[in-house]
Amino acid sequence: MAIEQRNTDNFPLTNDSHGMRELPVLPVRDTVLFPHAVLPLTVGRESSVQLINSLGEDKTIVVVAQREARIDSPQPVDLYPIGTLATVHKVVRMPNQSLFVFAEGLERVNVVEYTQLAPFMRAKVATVAEVLAEPNSEIEALQRNILNLFQQIVAGSPTLSDELSTVAMNIEEPGRLVDFVASSLPSLSTRDKQDVLETYDVRSRLEKINQHLAKELEVQQLRNKIQSEVQDRVQQTQREYYLREQMKAIQKELGEQDDTARDVEEFKEKIEQSGMPEEVKKEAMKELNRLSRMSPMAADYSVTRNYLEWLVVLPWTKSSGVEVDISKAKEVLDEDHYDLQKVKDRILDYLSVRRLNPKMKGPILCFFGPPGVGKTSLGKSIARALGRKFVRMSLGGIHDEAEIRGHRRTYIGAMPGQIIQGIRRAEANDPVYMLDEIDKVGRDYRGDPTAALLEALDPEQNSSFRDNYLDVTFDLSKVLFITTANQLDTIPDPLRDRMEIIELHGYTEEDKRHITYQYLIKRQTEENGLKPEQIEFTDDAVSFLIRHYTREAGVRSLERQIGTICRKQARRIVEGKTEKLVVTREVIQEMLGGIKVRVDTEIANRTKHPGVVVGLAWTPTGGDILFIEAMKMKGKGEFRITGQIQEVMRESMQAAYSWVRAHAEQLNIDSDFFSKYDLHIHVPAGAIPKDGPSAGVTIVTALVSLLTDKLARPRLAMTGEITLSGNVLPIGGVKEKFLAAKRAGVTDVIFPAENQQNVEEDVLPEQMEGVNVHYVSSIEDVLALALPQSQAEVRADAEAREQVLADVPK
Ligand SMILES: Nc1ncnc2c1ncn2[C@@H]1O[C@H](COP(=O)(O)OP(=O)(O)O)[C@@H](O)[C@H]1O
Ligand SMILES: [Mg+2]
Repeated sequence: MAIEQRNTDNFPLTNDSHGMRELPVLPVRDTVLFPHAVLPLTVGRESSVQLINSLGEDKTIVVVAQREARIDSPQPVDLYPIGTLATVHKVVRMPNQSLFVFAEGLERVNVVEYTQLAPFMRAKVATVAEVLAEPNSEIEALQRNILNLFQQIVAGSPTLSDELSTVAMNIEEPGRLVDFVASSLPSLSTRDKQDVLETYDVRSRLEKINQHLAKELEVQQLRNKIQSEVQDRVQQTQREYYLREQMKAIQKELGEQDDTARDVEEFKEKIEQSGMPEEVKKEAMKELNRLSRMSPMAADYSVTRNYLEWLVVLPWTKSSGVEVDISKAKEVLDEDHYDLQKVKDRILDYLSVRRLNPKMKGPILCFFGPPGVGKTSLGKSIARALGRKFVRMSLGGIHDEAEIRGHRRTYIGAMPGQIIQGIRRAEANDPVYMLDEIDKVGRDYRGDPTAALLEALDPEQNSSFRDNYLDVTFDLSKVLFITTANQLDTIPDPLRDRMEIIELHGYTEEDKRHITYQYLIKRQTEENGLKPEQIEFTDDAVSFLIRHYTREAGVRSLERQIGTICRKQARRIVEGKTEKLVVTREVIQEMLGGIKVRVDTEIANRTKHPGVVVGLAWTPTGGDILFIEAMKMKGKGEFRITGQIQEVMRESMQAAYSWVRAHAEQLNIDSDFFSKYDLHIHVPAGAIPKDGPSAGVTIVTALVSLLTDKLARPRLAMTGEITLSGNVLPIGGVKEKFLAAKRAGVTDVIFPAENQQNVEEDVLPEQMEGVNVHYVSSIEDVLALALPQSQAEVRADAEAREQVLADVPK
């Protein structure tokens, strides 16, 4: 819409009574004054102020809009040619010299000619006649539509007063309505308003404004829609906020409110203090954030809380250990344990290497030996020697990987695995961690715990051990893992490969006596609140206790029996009998009841029959004696084996049987015998599966004893594997077997010749005291030793047997 400075001829002029008038012209920016409208105008320009000031009685002026609002001193060319005749109603003088003027529009005028430019403009103007259409239905429809649109816009606008609707409704004349609407619509630009002003044809003016209104309404509706969407979102968050606030209020009433807040605060502090690595901290803060948004009543609350509890309580950086002082460590080990010199040396070597190279990725120590020989308590001593915490976890019967490594948190009642639980108990990240009974780890459908154990034990991996529950890594590399086992062949190979096996043997009676005096009595007296002068054990009583109340490689039940006696004395003291208790064998019998174990008489008794021979066996609980019993019955030459045996043992029995049959003549056995009789070998329960073959010599001896009707010598035991040709092969578990024989009161032991070196290395000379060891390389040697060779020997054996049985226990 370009409006040029037009030739006045283009505009219809009125020739009414007013004619042309010469009037002051007030240029205005950014607004258009319409006829019938009242407009407040701020007048600041010097020229305009003078104009207003010059007005006398006649307050009529012409208001004309500037084409460009930014022009400060507009010239005629800068003004639109059409303006509005106006009456100035009120002039308010502002403090800054400007004026505030209310002007009421009267009618459209055409500025025909400027007659003065300074100090303000004056011009000749002529009234513009409006082109009034015939009032027809189309005009009326347009008019109504405009009114309708306008009312909608006013209703939907937050800034337009509702009065505008009422006013508009009361305007009947269409041209005036348009002027009013155009004047009231703030969204209409000055140009558009001017365009409306310059449109004399009422009908086209109606159309123009109708279009504007339609567009305006659309824009407004769109804006409202956006607005309400934003509002919806705002309201939703507000709603949640209010609900939460209400919940807090309710919880406060119930005395719960501050729980969450306090929890969260406390956790925040604990997280800071826990020293957890960044990665873990991030996870912890994430969970804490979750917690802060939960109700303590929510099911998840305690789950999340538990988890956080675990995270903050773990000793991420807390260590207990100081530098290893080898001489102090030696002192501590000696303080706690009798002898075990070899074992202690190896432990000290191990610790020395660790001291020189703390990052050593060395093997895991494994204490291997029968129960009660001090494996666990050595672990405790090592911890004490290193100034570290000690934790112990028994792997016996653990089948499930999750027990080691935990369940995922999504499980109900999930917990970290045993490894992490142990670390928590230790309250330090460098404890001595004993994995007891690693040989008893199970493996089944619930998963293989070995993999998890490997991960924990392997120095290559354990700096980032991941527990399923924690789901963050924990550094186990400072932990000193020690394992124990009664048996090596059940330890899964990958685990065993990483271990340095340190073997602990069973004790002799002599060892046990020393341990009793130096450790067990002291410990039990103290533990039961006795003073050393309130109880005394005689030498005889201790031997009696060892021999007849315990039957073990270690000293566990010995210690228990001593404990029982101490407790009884404690009770007597409390009951007022304060005199010192001297423990004799009578006291023992009175307090512990009659003799529990008599291996010597058992041997004497059972070997009273031909066909019974004492073997020696290795078991996970140490060595033991074993009675092999051969029986004959009428039959057709069958050979049967019963009892606790395995395939390997069956084989060695078969070999034994074949050898005896092959040598029947030499042995003076009736050659018909094998076709008229059945033979039956029985191995009693408790005999060990794996160690079967080492009973070979015993089986042959039992068969020969039976078939030649000779009794085996009464205080003899034997072990050795045989070949079909009658050679004796070496066996394992020498020391345990030797000690078992000695415990049983055996005076003569037969070992394979090839085991001589083992015996001499493992058994100390003082332990050999009272026992003759015979080394054999063939079964003939065995038989010569085991069965009496003359009537004199038979008589001597019978006497010896009677003596054992008649003997009061020593
Ligand atoms: N050589 C020893 N010197 C002192 N006490 C010992 C010795 N060997 C074992 N003990 C004690 O015997 C008890 C049982 O030992 P423990 O460590 O439980 O055996 P293990 O773990 O080998 O089955 C403990 O009280 C232990 O101190
Ligand atoms: Mg133990």
